[in-house]
Amino acid sequence: MEKIRVSLPINSYDILIGHHIEQHIIDSIKAAKLSHESLIVTDSNVGKLYADKFKALLKEAELSAEVHIIPAGEESKSLKEAEKIYTRAIEAGLDRHSAIFALGGGVVGDLAGFIAATYMRGVPFYQIPTSLLAQVDSSVGGKVAVDHHLGKNLIGAFYQPKEVWIDLSYLKTLPKRELYTGLGEVIKYGIIEDKDFFDYLDDHADDVLSYNDEALFHIVKRSCEIKADVVGQDEHDNGIRGILNFGHTMGHAIEKETNFARYNHGEAVAIGTIGAAHLSHELGMIDDYTVHRVVKAIEKYHLPQRAEGCTVDGMMHDILHDKKTVNGIVHWVLMNGIGNVIIRDDVPDDAVKKCISKIITK
Ligand code: GLY
Repeated sequence: MEKIRVSLPINSYDILIGHHIEQHIIDSIKAAKLSHESLIVTDSNVGKLYADKFKALLKEAELSAEVHIIPAGEESKSLKEAEKIYTRAIEAGLDRHSAIFALGGGVVGDLAGFIAATYMRGVPFYQIPTSLLAQVDSSVGGKVAVDHHLGKNLIGAFYQPKEVWIDLSYLKTLPKRELYTGLGEVIKYGIIEDKDFFDYLDDHADDVLSYNDEALFHIVKRSCEIKADVVGQDEHDNGIRGILNFGHTMGHAIEKETNFARYNHGEAVAIGTIGAAHLSHELGMIDDYTVHRVVKAIEKYHLPQRAEGCTVDGMMHDILHDKKTVNGIVHWVLMNGIGNVIIRDDVPDDAVKKCISKIITK
């Protein structure tokens, strides 16, 4: 088992990664001196596979848990669903020292974290991510939120978990498309911080795609190390944390243009990653071969390279109105090379349009 520290000015915490880490979870809970009543939030897919098992684990740690199951899917990340969970928590008698456990993917983690941040002004929160995307990204860093009908993640907080428990065994039941989705974010970590890691991904695609234990351990561990390092420098996303947004500027626009239906998040980010590589090339920051390497990596991991159903003007409009765009200034994360990115806000619209046209099908 590996322990990675997320070092913050206050509320630092550990990410535990391994196969079958049950005993560590029990020890950790016992040491935390939580109130007896607790709540597990999970979804209809993960709940039927793992909720009973996790509840039994909490029982071994001498906690009693209610299980609240939300319908799987982004629609559940709403104030309406949050209201139901608050009711459940109150009825179950959760107090200020009761824990909330998020057992699931990104939607469960964001929603349960939002509840934990606000219920009785904040209660202990634990992330148990079961998808690769949640293990390498959303469970780490404390961004919790629900969606508003006018936009995703518009109502939220920074609220760090007490611990993140990543049991790699959960990945065994993850559908292939979900694995690929998470790999979109994993490739991103190589591009933004670590060329050796990018090379590893390039060389070990067969191992990763066949769910090889060692390969999965390595990619989750390295991704979490990079995320922990970046979050540790800029918890509240005022500077360097922006580099985690690599590929997301065009990626978000692709998701929006296709009504969040055709592509899932990691797929849209993968296409956006290629777009950001083209843009870096257009601005003279990287050579043809580097763009080629990025495109090949995306292809190797069965991720799409072009978006269907998008237009240049539509995407341009979305980019200029994204919630990360402030006063009309877009903060582009661009490549100086593999493992080396910078944030630039001086990118001409014409260059952006040219590169969007390279990643959409006509
Ligand atoms: N997923 C981007 C961040 O946590 O900042």
